[in-house]
Amino acid sequence: MPRSIIVGSGKSIPPICVTNDMLSRVMDTTDAWIQERSGVQTRYYVEKGTSTADLGAQAAAEALANASVDKDEVDLLISATMTPDHYFPGNGGLIQKRLGMKPVASFDIRQQCAGFLYAMQLADAHVRAGLAKTVLVVGHEVHTGFMPYSENSWACLYGQSEKVTEAEWEWNNRFRHLVVLFGDAGAAVVVKATDDERRGVVDSLLRTDGTDFDKLYVPGTGFRHRPYTDPAQFERGDHVPVMDGRHVFKMATTRMIEASQQVLARNGVKPEELKLVLMHQANKRINEYCAKQLGLREEQVLHNIERYGNTTAATIPLLWDEAARAGRIAPGDPILMVAFGAGMNWGATLLRA
Ligand code: UT7
Repeated sequence: MPRSIIVGSGKSIPPICVTNDMLSRVMDTTDAWIQERSGVQTRYYVEKGTSTADLGAQAAAEALANASVDKDEVDLLISATMTPDHYFPGNGGLIQKRLGMKPVASFDIRQQCAGFLYAMQLADAHVRAGLAKTVLVVGHEVHTGFMPYSENSWACLYGQSEKVTEAEWEWNNRFRHLVVLFGDAGAAVVVKATDDERRGVVDSLLRTDGTDFDKLYVPGTGFRHRPYTDPAQFERGDHVPVMDGRHVFKMATTRMIEASQQVLARNGVKPEELKLVLMHQANKRINEYCAKQLGLREEQVLHNIERYGNTTAATIPLLWDEAARAGRIAPGDPILMVAFGAGMNWGATLLRA
């Protein structure tokens, strides 16, 4: 049975670097609070008009070039995002069109912060079943569409306006625990079939449990409403995600540790044998806690949340791309990927690079 290996990667980071101090112009927050509670120092925002598919296509093109794979070799495209350009269709076809690819099979999946792991499982299953030989997997998000700011708040954040009104300040504060964490980005990998049994995806453990879905979700703009969006939802702020941060923090640490331990144990791999652990970047404190409980050494665990914030489906391929380009991944290296996010969806994937 063929195995799947990552043969190339790419990323797309938008141009606007937003510091914590810039956010404190429009809401009651500080650089010290954000860094201490989450580890985030900066995040990148797209210019208005740039879409998730734009970032995804750019990252995908870079990944194909990095892998020296022609776009017409791709026989499956998987797009993971919770911030698609349109309600429908999904971003798969938009990326295929932007890259000028021939028609391919494609999946549009969500699974939020666990999206990349679900996408990798789908890619691996297709490769193992002989249904695909070359798979393009894209994790991409433009979170700035969720940001609840008025035009004046945006201008103030960017230093183009003096200050926000009292009402704008109060409104923005309502979402401060959420918006400070997120940034925009795209990242992609090219997965290829190999007969080399020492390499490839070894095992994936994926889980979904909707019991606590309302601890992190978007209450408005869905088909529970008729029409699915209206001005009243917008005025209530129901288009912005609701997040019970403490609850999600506890669930993330519990589930990420549990999934990691299970997937390692059932494959006879000890945490200390892993070359790298690529954890979803939601909060540096979540990952430091997980790393400690798993008994990992500092150099095994990569972080880039300081620079990019939480980029949802893009975090793990972004880490992969940076590690690969820094020469930190060699063929055969045992690597664990682990993520937890809205849904709730979580998982852990063990592979040999
Ligand atoms: O990608 C997957 C999804 N997301 C996550 O995994 C997020 C998981 N949760 C977290 O990362 C953390 O819970 C947060 C970073 C969101 C919050 O950190 P926390 O240590 O859990 O803070 P908290 O929610 O308990 O709030 C502590 C205080 C509160 O004030 P009082 O009630 O103690 O006066 C908040 O109102 O911090 C206040 N606060 C802020 N202060 C300054 C909340 N957000 C901010 C802010 N700046 N941005």
